[in-house]
Amino acid sequence: RIPVIIDCDTGVDDALALLFAVRHPALDVRAITCVAGNTDVDGVVRNTLTVLEQAGAPDIPVARGAERPLIEAPRSARHVHGHDGMGDLGLPQPSRRPADVDAVTLLRREIIASPRPVTLVPMAPLTNIALLLRTHPEVVGNIERIVFMGGAAAVGNATPVAEFNVWHDPEAAAILLTAGVPITMYGLDVFTRVVVPAADVRRLCGSGEPGARLAGKLLAHRPAHPDSRPDDPSETSGGLGDAGAVCAVVDPEGLTTHRLPVDVSLAPGPTRGMTIVDRRPRPGEAEIHEGTREQPLVDVGLDVDVERYVKLY
Ligand code: BDR
Ligand code: CA
Repeated sequence: RIPVIIDCDTGVDDALALLFAVRHPALDVRAITCVAGNTDVDGVVRNTLTVLEQAGAPDIPVARGAERPLIEAPRSARHVHGHDGMGDLGLPQPSRRPADVDAVTLLRREIIASPRPVTLVPMAPLTNIALLLRTHPEVVGNIERIVFMGGAAAVGNATPVAEFNVWHDPEAAAILLTAGVPITMYGLDVFTRVVVPAADVRRLCGSGEPGARLAGKLLAHRPAHPDSRPDDPSETSGGLGDAGAVCAVVDPEGLTTHRLPVDVSLAPGPTRGMTIVDRRPRPGEAEIHEGTREQPLVDVGLDVDVERYVKLY
């Protein structure tokens, strides 16, 4: 099994990702770390613990991480994810508490202790990961690769050009990109395309299995078409969102990536948080091999086999 650690800001679609990751037989989820993003970090911890209980995976260590970005002021995405950050679905309170170590400590401990190099899957602002890389740079020796949800080669969502996770903490994203390990960017270009048809959402909602039923409810809360009513699962198709990044770990063949230089705009103003993906035509791979350019090379997801990932999920 692939050892993975997920860093999240649960979050409706983070919850979809957790439900899938902890149940997929090819993955060994060794830890989950929480960061402020979709909601405040205590809300994220609470939501994460609740989702794990619903998924029948109550023992995976969960740690509380950064409560704000490195430099930006704290801000939330309640308008997207509801007051509780989880679509206000009235989920129960969790019965356990998070680990008594912070996220950076847990990340370091689990990465170092893993018998095989770990795949890191951040799907939130990258604050915890940046703090980890700066505090314990030795961890890169036992990281296989980082598959992160964030960025966009084309259109943004938090701003016209910036994707939320990168925009929320651009400095942290810049630190991640220069980590010196292989990185796959599961950005908005593919993120928005993976949509579960209404018939499947309906089937999940009617499942006798609590984790599957919760996935159905969450998908119905993320209607792919703005006009569909969130409380009517018979008409609602829902985006997999962050869960698609986990699909890309399980089944990398379903994602078409191009190895391209990626930079993050740190300048104040309208481009702040934009990922600048250099897609200019190149004479060939030899021209852009590692070390000859200033920008790190990232495997940028530019196309996705939607049906394949929906089926996998
Ligand atoms: C990302 O931001 C959050 O709202 C989602 O959970 C996802 O990780 C999309 O920009
Ligand atoms: Ca997220």
